[in-house]
Amino acid sequence: APTEAEVSAVVARHLHREGPLLPILHDLQHEFGFIPETGFQTIAHELNITRAEVYGVVSFYPDFRTEPHGRHVLKICRAEACQSVGARALEEAALARLGLDRPGTTANGAVTVEPVYCLGLCACGPAALLDDKPLAHLDETRLTRLLAEAGA
Ligand code: FES
Repeated sequence: APTEAEVSAVVARHLHREGPLLPILHDLQHEFGFIPETGFQTIAHELNITRAEVYGVVSFYPDFRTEPHGRHVLKICRAEACQSVGARALEEAALARLGLDRPGTTANGAVTVEPVYCLGLCACGPAALLDDKPLAHLDETRLTRLLAEAGA
């Protein structure tokens, strides 16, 4: 996780802007892979806002994460077209297979499951991304095989 000094350095880069919070959060996630809750206080202090405000913005955007992700990231589409062809059941099967009761990272750090809302593959759902590789017409058999290959 980034140190307080590293968080401050990112904050400093954006202090001159109007609305620096989102660019700061994007940079932190880009550089460190996640936005550690330990950094919220530093950000709040530097921007003269409350820690709760930082937390509110981080939790509002599904793309922000507060923990490092696993070696592989699986994003299953939760938007309507995919839902209508069984994406939700697929997500539940994936979570069960991974021993997770909600999206998150497996105990062995192999896979992180995250929700995503439309990947532009609506005509070929259920759609997902595995490490940024698009997967169309995904079914449970293929997903199970991919998860096994990912070391889950
Ligand atoms: Fe799933 Fe668009 S609804 S890709």
